[in-house]
Amino acid sequence: MPIRTVNLEQDYAAVLSLWRAAEPGVRVGRSDTPEALALKLRRDPDLFLVAEVDGQIAGAVLGGFDGRRGMVYHLAVAAAYQGQGLGRALMEELDARLRARGCVKAYLMVMPENTAALEFYRRLGWEAMPIHVLGKELDR
Ligand SMILES: CC(C)(COP(=O)(O)OP(=O)(O)OC[C@H]1O[C@@H](n2cnc3c(N)ncnc32)[C@H](O)[C@@H]1OP(=O)(O)O)[C@@H](O)C(=O)NCCC(=O)NCCS
Repeated sequence: MPIRTVNLEQDYAAVLSLWRAAEPGVRVGRSDTPEALALKLRRDPDLFLVAEVDGQIAGAVLGGFDGRRGMVYHLAVAAAYQGQGLGRALMEELDARLRARGCVKAYLMVMPENTAALEFYRRLGWEAMPIHVLGKELDR
């Protein structure tokens, strides 16, 4: 599978357009500017992955590791390439890279109405956790 680490300068426009096309399953926001993603890449340079098919960015996922747990953000596969194993390949490569970093458990968030993504993740071994996720805006 054609999975590789992102090259932000080269891939940013295509990745952003992939993520925008994947809304509302993916929510593009203020952490997705080139500057914010460059900052993220400084921390986890090996965990932002793309799938490239025929020279096109067909999928992407943004992973993170805080030293204790892993996080997965913004997994998306372009509609024309869905159902061909690219989503699984991106997640399996991210799993492997997180494990290599010493990560023993990872989390991800899915909107409850995104039943397709929930089924996809269940298929890959992810389990719902009986927990409330709380958030707080720190820049307002
Ligand atoms: C979710 C998503 C990434 C899946 O990508 P994909 O490349 O189509 O998935 P794959 O082809 O790799 O499928 C992997 C497995 O999941 C299963 N699967 C995929 N979509 C499924 C669905 N809607 N319902 C049930 N199973 C599904 C496949 O059958 C396959 O099973 P197998 O490998 O055991 O045979 C893609 O649908 C997507 O980009 N959705 C929009 C964005 C989104 O909602 N992202 C999630 C953010 S939380």
